[in-house]
Amino acid sequence: MQRAGKDSVSRAHDRWAAYVARYHAGNPGITETAFEHARDGALGTPHDWLAAALPGPVGAVLDLACGSAPMFDRLQHDSYLGLDLSTAELALARARGRGPVGLADARWLPLPDSCVDTVVCSMGLMLVQPVDDAVREVARVLRPGGRFALLLPALGPIAPRDVRPTAALAAALRGPGSMPQRLGGRRLKAALGHAGLTVQAMHRHRFPFPLTSPDDVRLAVSALYTPGRTARQLRKAEERLARYVTDRAELGLPLLRLVAERADRARVVTMRP
Ligand SMILES: C[S@@+](CC[C@H](N)C(=O)[O-])C[C@H]1O[C@@H](n2cnc3c(N)ncnc32)[C@H](O)[C@@H]1O
Repeated sequence: MQRAGKDSVSRAHDRWAAYVARYHAGNPGITETAFEHARDGALGTPHDWLAAALPGPVGAVLDLACGSAPMFDRLQHDSYLGLDLSTAELALARARGRGPVGLADARWLPLPDSCVDTVVCSMGLMLVQPVDDAVREVARVLRPGGRFALLLPALGPIAPRDVRPTAALAAALRGPGSMPQRLGGRRLKAALGHAGLTVQAMHRHRFPFPLTSPDDVRLAVSALYTPGRTARQLRKAEERLARYVTDRAELGLPLLRLVAERADRARVVTMRP
């Protein structure tokens, strides 16, 4: 019985991994495009906000689940390495002059122990299952005193004006887009702490995603992970959301930013597949 439960969990992980691989093969750079659109007047884009958590020199950087590598130009690094599972995302990163980048799974990093000063991971950790494997790898490759800064989707804060368009979108899609797992502050702190990473700062912020044209509506729907949704459902989601378009309309994009530090004596466990 326990075995059967485990098998179905790992089948669900595999289905998600296959969906995410197909999605990014067909939509390279989508997160960067959506984040450029969700610019906050004071903080800039969500990628700018993540970079602002690591001001000044950051030494050797590993960008985990780097996608099109939007963090490359935003950090004062001595060296940069981006790793991701999507060849289409990596090709776009290279076409934009960012890198080096390479193909690797966040759960098994092809790097020696204690070799980087900083790890960044923007909107990637929630896709990696089990998340503890990725966090353990981050702790392993970070030097003692090194920092790990990450960005994740959050449930809040949202503004009252977000409620109706978000509910319309969720109703049309039968669920507000999807993520393979929700990583809230408590779950994250536990996973990080277990690997010897101490949380230094955690913030949440709502970024405004303008909804002022049909193109904005299309971007909002296409930037969501929507496994199992039919083309008809996606069209319906666009139609519903289009009803809220005005020259000042927005959707809220709540994000969580966290910075952790590797303690001097992290529990470093080297794992190989
Ligand atoms: C939402 S995108 C974020 C991309 C980029 N970091 C950004 O902020 O624009 C998530 C990325 O995670 C990558 N990814 C998913 N699972 C992964 C894994 N197990 N190991 C490495 N990368 C993974 C995907 O290929 C995709 O490029």
